[in-house]
Amino acid sequence: MTEIEKTLPKKIEADEEGFRISTPFEIADYKSRRLKNYSIADLGCGIGVQSIYFSKYFEKVISVELDENRYKIAKKNFEKMHLKNIEIIRGDALDNKIMEKLKDVEIIFSDPSRPKKGEEWSFDFLSPSPEKIIKMYKNKDAFSFDVPVQIKVDKINDDWEKEYISLEGEIKRLSLYTGKLKKFEISALMLPSEIRMVKNPNIERIVPEIDLPEDYIYEIDPAIWYADLLPELFHEFKNMSLIYRDRKKVFSTSSLNYIDERFKNTYRKIFLANDINSLKNKLNENNAGKVFLRYRIENDYYSIKNSIEKNLKGKETFFIFQFKGKYVGAVKD
Ligand SMILES: C[S@@+](CC[C@H](N)C(=O)[O-])C[C@H]1O[C@@H](n2cnc3c(N)ncnc32)[C@H](O)[C@@H]1O
Repeated sequence: MTEIEKTLPKKIEADEEGFRISTPFEIADYKSRRLKNYSIADLGCGIGVQSIYFSKYFEKVISVELDENRYKIAKKNFEKMHLKNIEIIRGDALDNKIMEKLKDVEIIFSDPSRPKKGEEWSFDFLSPSPEKIIKMYKNKDAFSFDVPVQIKVDKINDDWEKEYISLEGEIKRLSLYTGKLKKFEISALMLPSEIRMVKNPNIERIVPEIDLPEDYIYEIDPAIWYADLLPELFHEFKNMSLIYRDRKKVFSTSSLNYIDERFKNTYRKIFLANDINSLKNKLNENNAGKVFLRYRIENDYYSIKNSIEKNLKGKETFFIFQFKGKYVGAVKD
């Protein structure tokens, strides 16, 4: 066991915000293996999680951090783990003096801060800005950026690889790769399984749709639909159709019971109900005690849930969907 494996994750020091914005360990490990080379710069290293993983796979890591407190925490983390191959610099990654220090580094990586929240993001919201980094480090040809998935693909250079990464069924980031780092056009990478789906230019971009569910309902891993790879999924699962999509969830349905890690959850349909009273009756008939609502509810999730659960006396947990105004009661498979 290496020193890093012994010390991570529990011994890492962090302030609350620094830990919240730090890279999940599984992603940090994957990114380090994917980028593995001689030297890398981590521009905006935060409390140092990604840099710590880089140090396992690179001979030389140079980490830059603007925030004084996070710089100190990262430095302490590197020292505590005796990571002699990381040099940490306090300062602005867009400063000429820092650029000079990075002149021999092969790969420039940055997981910039996301100070603004919104439906749609642009690179200008990020700090340090990937566009400014590219302009500044113009003699380099190998960049990788981890950016929010809300950034629309059409706002990103066509030549860059786009890799949507999910971890345990939650979408986490869009990783971009330029120059010699590029391997795919666009892909969905699902961690921890490391199953990857890539765009297939030889299939028709068709997504079969259906109004009411068949026997099984599948929640599709978000990396797949963020990467616009639903046609690829349905091309592979021929007996499946799309049944519902909103901003946060996409469900498909099939008469077949597929077991595949690309489905975050699988539900088995038990009944269909035309209205809320019939739903409550059918839940009672099926020994339901608890429900979770799996359709889009803007407000009052708990008051609706409580009103449905009020007279239930059974033991089973049901998941309620709504398709075309009808309710579907299902159980987790
Ligand atoms: C999302 S965090 C990085 C987290 C890091 N990947 C980790 O695993 O802990 C982004 C960091 O970039 C730093 N930052 C923002 N602008 C910067 C700049 N111009 N130069 C250097 N660091 C910067 C922020 O202070 C913040 O700590």
